[in-house]
Amino acid sequence: MLQVEDLRVNYGQINAVKGISFEVKEKEIVTLIGSNGAGKTSTLRSISNLIGKSGGKVVFKGEDITRLKPSEIVKKGICHVPEGRHIFPFLTVEENLFMGSYANKNPEKSNYKKNLEEVYFLFPVLKERRKQMGGTLSGGEQQMLAIGRGLMLEPTLIFFDEPSLGLAPILVEQIFKHIEKIRDMGKTLLLVEQNARKALKIADRGYVMETGKIVFSDTAENITQDPKLAKAYLGIA
Ligand SMILES: Nc1ncnc2c1ncn2[C@@H]1O[C@H](COP(=O)(O)OP(=O)(O)O)[C@@H](O)[C@H]1O
Ligand SMILES: [Mg+2]
Repeated sequence: MLQVEDLRVNYGQINAVKGISFEVKEKEIVTLIGSNGAGKTSTLRSISNLIGKSGGKVVFKGEDITRLKPSEIVKKGICHVPEGRHIFPFLTVEENLFMGSYANKNPEKSNYKKNLEEVYFLFPVLKERRKQMGGTLSGGEQQMLAIGRGLMLEPTLIFFDEPSLGLAPILVEQIFKHIEKIRDMGKTLLLVEQNARKALKIADRGYVMETGKIVFSDTAENITQDPKLAKAYLGIA
């Protein structure tokens, strides 16, 4: 579904992503893991064209999307749930979700209603709090809102950048359960995480990034069982 070839990202003299290649197949959960500064966020942001690429090619469903505008990429069916949530604090929950549907390729009202019901079904707490300001939600609820807003776009491929960052352990569990549910809805997911152990538990395959390069890739199960990788990335002695 998504093929990334020799992707490069530079910030001035800093080579943040040094020519990586990977793919995501339909209905997979693929995880990109690696420590802070490895280049995971830069990878996602450059595929979405929120930052420029210094080189490489991105093909989505057989179409070259390397140079499309971010809004055009969204319309192709790729949605990006960014690191740090970025909801609108002074809009209500429902208004935040409406803002999500604004960029939808099918802007009819019927689609909006159907998508809203789907988001509320997945996250009942958002329905309970639909009239509450986004900024008054807890961290976990804000993450749900950011994900829900992405779902309003009817994406087929979703990028999640550190969805569990800064959440209490019980909320981390919840967010990962929801991510699995979203896959069960038929979506394809590319999940970036520092919480490698949790990400590998729900993923089909994983790529390990280190200082801008992919140093290892395998099924999630094999990565978890590799003693060297387990020690380096999963904190297992
Ligand atoms: N806007 C930026 N300007 C300069 N350097 C950046 C910028 N964003 C990220 N970097 C650098 O690029 C590298 C990769 O960062 P990032 O993609 O955020 O990694 P990760 O998401 O894996 O933590 C880091 O060395 C980081 O300091
Ligand atoms: Mg990051």
